[in-house]
Amino acid sequence: MFKRATIVLMLIVFGTVIIALSGCEEKKAPTVISLDKGWLFHPGDNLEFAKPEYNDSSWKSIGVYEPWEKQGYPRLNGFAWYRTKVVIPSSIRDEADLKDSLIVKLGKIDDFDQVFFNGVLIGENLQNVKPGTKPANDFKDLKNSYWNEQRRYSLPLKSGLIKWDNTNVIAVRVFDWGGAGGIFAGELSIGMQSYKDYVKIIYNNGDFKSFGKQFEKKIVVKNISKNYTIEGEFSVNVVDNITDKKLYEKEVPMSLPPKGKNYFSFTFDKPKESAKVEYEFEFKNDEEKIITEGVPYILTPPVKETPQINGALVYGERINKPFLYRIAATGKRPLKFSAEGLPEGLTLNANTGIITGKVSKAGKYEVKISVKNTLGTDTKTLEIVIGNKLALTPPMGWNSWNCWGLSVSQKKVYDAAKAFVNTGLADHGWTYINIDDGWEIPGNSKKPKRKRNGEILTNEKFPDMQKLGKDIHALGLKFGIYSSPGPLTCGGYTASYGHELQDAKTFAKWGIDYLKYDLCSYRKMMKDQNSVEELMPPYIKMHKALMKINRDIVYSLCEYGNGKVWEWGEKVGGNLWRTTGDIWDDWNRLYQIGFGQAGLEKYAGPGHWNDPDMLVLGWVGWGPNLHRTRLTPDEQYTHMSLWALLSAPLLLGNDLTKLDDFTLNLITNDEVIAIDQDKLGKQASRVFNKDSIQIWKKPLADGTTAVGIFNTSVKNNDFVLDLVGLGFSWEVILRDVWKQKNIGVFAHTYPCRIPAHGVKLLKIIKK
Ligand code: GAL
Repeated sequence: MFKRATIVLMLIVFGTVIIALSGCEEKKAPTVISLDKGWLFHPGDNLEFAKPEYNDSSWKSIGVYEPWEKQGYPRLNGFAWYRTKVVIPSSIRDEADLKDSLIVKLGKIDDFDQVFFNGVLIGENLQNVKPGTKPANDFKDLKNSYWNEQRRYSLPLKSGLIKWDNTNVIAVRVFDWGGAGGIFAGELSIGMQSYKDYVKIIYNNGDFKSFGKQFEKKIVVKNISKNYTIEGEFSVNVVDNITDKKLYEKEVPMSLPPKGKNYFSFTFDKPKESAKVEYEFEFKNDEEKIITEGVPYILTPPVKETPQINGALVYGERINKPFLYRIAATGKRPLKFSAEGLPEGLTLNANTGIITGKVSKAGKYEVKISVKNTLGTDTKTLEIVIGNKLALTPPMGWNSWNCWGLSVSQKKVYDAAKAFVNTGLADHGWTYINIDDGWEIPGNSKKPKRKRNGEILTNEKFPDMQKLGKDIHALGLKFGIYSSPGPLTCGGYTASYGHELQDAKTFAKWGIDYLKYDLCSYRKMMKDQNSVEELMPPYIKMHKALMKINRDIVYSLCEYGNGKVWEWGEKVGGNLWRTTGDIWDDWNRLYQIGFGQAGLEKYAGPGHWNDPDMLVLGWVGWGPNLHRTRLTPDEQYTHMSLWALLSAPLLLGNDLTKLDDFTLNLITNDEVIAIDQDKLGKQASRVFNKDSIQIWKKPLADGTTAVGIFNTSVKNNDFVLDLVGLGFSWEVILRDVWKQKNIGVFAHTYPCRIPAHGVKLLKIIKK
């Protein structure tokens, strides 16, 4: 390692003084200039805005860490411009080892962008363009949105566009399809390109090949420069985050000719708990590039062969509505199901565990359900409540949006339903199969959107909705759909405005059990996005329609938390309501949304839940092209643990035909699921928030308490849990929920190591 070797050598020769000197030596003047402040904004479109001399003095200031909707432009879709002025000191060029290009980073932009530097187009939609390229009038490749991608454009010094020690104007032309728009996250800066930028360590995010007890990993180190040979030392270390032990280490000299690449593969024992791989390239000039990735680790023991009843143990329907409940149970097949005390009108299929029928008498029915195989029997009490409440526990299922986006189809939806059964997910309580946006006829299509009688039509990707409903129900699963109170959905498809009752009836005909009703284009009809008086009526209208049909439909409100929906969502008939904007697979977003739920606990309970949006585990992508979630394994444990503590609806958003062992384990831990599905329905509250540790506490129906200790920092943390502070003044039994194992008896304190962005999920059992 070059740097360390130099320091050691100097130490021997000159003693300690040099350490201080070598420390100073590394402190160079800043080589990167931040662009996260000082932006001006103008809605609409005019290519004059690109010109540096354009007078933007009447433009308004705007931040770049929130979409424009949150900054005074609630209804804006389509074009808008951002402009900023920046002085670029020549010192950053003079001090740089390489003097080829400037790198302009412009954060994440929803949906499309063209970037002008001193009036010249330098990049659009993630691609550099050659100076001199004329900006197209509309954006290229409008089929794929780039909303969640970091923009990074390179600007060659020889282009002559950069005014050193002088003001430069950056103008960004943005086009937003719908929903949130503008520059809203990521890194915004200007800096000189360095060796680091030329070396790419391609590690295929999360792709570890399993061979028995070992993982094998293959990576590629690439030099993308055309001119430089890059030399240095490349090292790989696999470190256990809990014990700090090295599970693998290797250091090799590496020389990469222009455009050259090196393959590197390594094998190590699968970690028992959290671990990371550190890839480090040390360049000859002392620069270094370090990339880390998490290693998947499985905490949940394998599913037992003895029978076990899982999932919600309380279930509500209304009088005389079609009843469907599939007893979720694991254990070696075949299983035989039986039930004692079923209300009149219901029958159980002893082979499938599916209960169907209709109940005409309101009441609470305690049903003793049993499931048996050659190895034993499990019996539990299922409380069936026939009354006026649905969703007595948070809905659990799958929704098409986070994987398929608008490319969803009948086949993809049915594949997800089959996967629920084939992978065993349904045996752990996963029930709803929900179609999100994209099943309707696009608003801009020439085709009729509705039949002559007004009945809504599906597009060609959904040839037979009624059949799909039947097929899903035949598996014992439930069927969900999506619409909007406006004329169009967020994706620009036909929605329910003016046809609410008719659509509710059509949904009933198709066998729909769940409706996500997304505000979207209705916003255009509102004066104030946050006005409760304006927000309630469209939701009440659809609720009334749903009350008129002969089916129970769980009602999910989606209006991004506007007007504090948690305060009135139940009043308008909502069974759940989104409390935030959309989630995506990024730690900052997960952090913002998940930990932002603090304080909302008093609004959740059986039949009415806060919804912090869907899960981003497994393969996701919002369109035809999917990628493995960008959350690290620790972040994924945090995601699942926090959502369970929050009594959040658990809606998977991944391609279920592509489930790896790690993801499957994450979503089939029955003790974790039981925390979410607990009968008491109490959402966790945050009881501690200090030094990047947050503790969330949730009381459970059996008298125990679920506690999540979350480490929100980037460093592993040795934490001592104060049990007395949590309200347990005497000895308690602590159970590790992920490992499904009692840890021991503790009094006063419990010391533990929580990995970076990770969690310890405990159950506290009074002795
Ligand atoms: C958004 C909503 C997403 C998804 C999308 C469909 O408004 O928050 O969850 O439903 O619309 O276009």
